[in-house]
Amino acid sequence: MTTDSTEQLLVDGLQELYYAEEQLLDALETLAEQTEDEQTSQAFSEHREETKGQIHRLERIFEDMGVDSEPREEPVIDALIQEHEAFSSENDGEVLDRYNMATGQKTEHYEIAAYGNLTSMAEKLGYDEAADLLEQTLREEEEALEEVTESSEQFDRQKISSD
Ligand SMILES: [Fe+2]
Repeated sequence: MTTDSTEQLLVDGLQELYYAEEQLLDALETLAEQTEDEQTSQAFSEHREETKGQIHRLERIFEDMGVDSEPREEPVIDALIQEHEAFSSENDGEVLDRYNMATGQKTEHYEIAAYGNLTSMAEKLGYDEAADLLEQTLREEEEALEEVTESSEQFDRQKISSD
């Protein structure tokens, strides 16, 4: 794949995130249903609702930039989801809860890197409104990461003290 400009890199990245967020909408529903820890399950559900707004923001950005809102396949997110499907088909209970927390963190780290880069590129290229919208989503992803990280640390502390 050759990309001839930073502008194209920005558009490709937005279309990849559009694809990723659509996949995550389903994945977050699965995570919320599977996770027994109530606080974590609730956090997944809430982040799923936020994700709908994030998709809407991306659609606004495409419209503002005059670009097709075409999802662009992103194998990184597909791999994370496939890995999770394989594990969750063979495991349950506490071990699955803990695994789901790690999966949540991995996807948030991916999204934070992607949104962070695109925010910076949009700013540099003078797409101020797009940059603002991307930054709003970036903050939500950072908060979601913090929440799931806290859950996982709390889980490990409780696990250690009860072992
Ligand atoms: Fe997201």
